[in-house]
Amino acid sequence: MESNVITYGELDSTNREAATLISSGLITGDTFVVADYQGNGRGQGNNHWVSDRGMNLLMSWIVFPAFLSVKFQFQLSKAVSLAISDLLESHTIPCKIKWPNDILINSMKAGGILIENSIMENTLKHSIIGIGLNINQRNFPRFPYQASSMCKETGKTYDLTEVRTMLMTCLRVRFEQLKNGKTKDIDREYGARMFGLNEESKFSDGTAEFIGIIRGVNEIGELQVETVKGMQTFGFHEITLIY
Ligand code: BTN
Repeated sequence: MESNVITYGELDSTNREAATLISSGLITGDTFVVADYQGNGRGQGNNHWVSDRGMNLLMSWIVFPAFLSVKFQFQLSKAVSLAISDLLESHTIPCKIKWPNDILINSMKAGGILIENSIMENTLKHSIIGIGLNINQRNFPRFPYQASSMCKETGKTYDLTEVRTMLMTCLRVRFEQLKNGKTKDIDREYGARMFGLNEESKFSDGTAEFIGIIRGVNEIGELQVETVKGMQTFGFHEITLIY
């Protein structure tokens, strides 16, 4: 599968640029929008994604997952998380996926995913998959958790272009797996790489803190947590893992 790649020195946000390109009718096939620096990188919710210039991967992948129904849109997030962890593991960097969309190295956040879907009828018309992955940056502001990077973990400096090309390949492989209906494999591998799986952890639901054990993710992407009240499920932004 060939992809288009559009590279910028600086953007406010690759996700925003991807949305602009789509609305201008300029995107015809799957396309990577890549930047060395973002002036206003977006994270989940109202968060910002901050990354030193030219040090890390900042990209948005525009894809057309018409085969995926809206109900199962979290499968795309799973496939992307797996692709990023495939990349890290191929560099012998152990990592975990922290539900719903963080990639942790040594329990510290090294990558984040922001997927924005456009829905037509019951399927995904297009998706903008924003990925920030820390590669060569060593020092990070502390907000609210300590961050990491490939370099911070191994002491090595990486060729950004090479790592970016590898990540693109990993993403395409996982996307094909999803497209080919191999969701059972994706579910199994995602489950096996989840941070905190089958361990007692502390959570907050916004009003109170409680103890629970992550048992997995259900078919619509909700987190399944075993608590004193029994098995509970939580959607995006309904629960925070305190670690
Ligand atoms: C998160 O963990 O909150 C998600 C972070 C996603 C950051 C990436 S960086 C490239 C793309 N463009 C953005 O503005 N955000 C995503």
